[in-house]
Amino acid sequence: EKITVSVIKADIGSVAGHSTVPDEIKALAEKKLNEAKEKGIIIDFRVFNAGDDLELVMTHRKGVDSEEIHGLAWETFKACAEKAKELKLYAAGQDLLKEAFSGNVRGLGPGVAEMEFTERPAEPIIVFMMDKTEPGAFNLPIFRMFADPFNTAGLVIDPSMHQGFRFEVWDIKEHKRVMLSTPEEMYDLLALIGSKGRYVIKRVYPKEGGKLPADEPVAVVSTEKLFEIAGEYVGKDDPVAIVRAQSGLPAVGEVLEAFAFPHLVSGWMRGSHNGPLMPVPFRYSKCTRFDGPPRVIAAGFQLCNGKLIGPVDMFDDPAFDYTRQKAMEICDYIRRHGPFEPHRLPHEEMEYTTLPKVLKKLEARFEKI
Ligand code: F6R
Ligand code: MG
Ligand code: MG
Repeated sequence: EKITVSVIKADIGSVAGHSTVPDEIKALAEKKLNEAKEKGIIIDFRVFNAGDDLELVMTHRKGVDSEEIHGLAWETFKACAEKAKELKLYAAGQDLLKEAFSGNVRGLGPGVAEMEFTERPAEPIIVFMMDKTEPGAFNLPIFRMFADPFNTAGLVIDPSMHQGFRFEVWDIKEHKRVMLSTPEEMYDLLALIGSKGRYVIKRVYPKEGGKLPADEPVAVVSTEKLFEIAGEYVGKDDPVAIVRAQSGLPAVGEVLEAFAFPHLVSGWMRGSHNGPLMPVPFRYSKCTRFDGPPRVIAAGFQLCNGKLIGPVDMFDDPAFDYTRQKAMEICDYIRRHGPFEPHRLPHEEMEYTTLPKVLKKLEARFEKI
């Protein structure tokens, strides 16, 4: 029998400003999910916050897009948003963009990463949760994990990984998708996913004939577009991802190695700036400097018949101190550009922020030259 891991997240309000989720809210989410666990709707759960986002990690046997599981997440977010309003938290209810639930949370505001697969005799998974950035921020690290031999030694030396992987890439503007295989189509893959605001890796699959079933994903990323739902800027789509590891997949250390380089991602202050992605322990999962910098936390688990053994706070290690130090050097450098590109996002991407409202006022004052 297959297991489903669902990570569903929403920003339903935070303290102070857009910095972090208070304990009262996480406790309420835990209470709701515990009730569902007692009723047997889910097998297990954990609640996290990535900065101002509330993440529900749930295991169950109901498959992806289950109305019951999505409904549970929706009701949990609604209850948390109510509490957030009571506490007058900042931007209470922010990501709950629609009133009524109709089958699943996609298109309603929350972000979703979920996958159904056959649990192996030992099944390590890492849940990554980011704040102050967008789904494309996962393109580079997911590529590194599953396609870059300079990151993942197993691609070269493990016969069960040597054949490579398949990537499902979404064009989030045109709502289309394409499957590409690595290593043979690596350059095509990079041609797309280098444009991380438009092409995002949605899932990774094993190839046919390997150790793992080719139709069961080994990684999945949330790709919801809040802007398209709301029609105006309501914050970035701070993304989450689930990655399976070991035994024919990248080792846990190869999965984490992909975050040792603090690459530039878009988001940060007002969802309008490029800045480095900083891997941090859970206790630093709050945004401070210039509402950032963009951050990622990693929760490591072993699955045990759907039960979650863990979490292990994977970035809580001096091994990532240098990355954090480097990230802060990059912050200092790029911040000195102030309102100039490429710190500020390119003009086309500013379309999804509050800048057009400012530019509109100037329209009438332009004269022909
Ligand atoms: C970025 C983010 C924050 C806000 C900023 C302004 O995703 O959430 O940087 O954009 O704090 O917020 P408002 O306009 O609510 O004062
Ligand atoms: Mg917020
Ligand atoms: Mg956020």
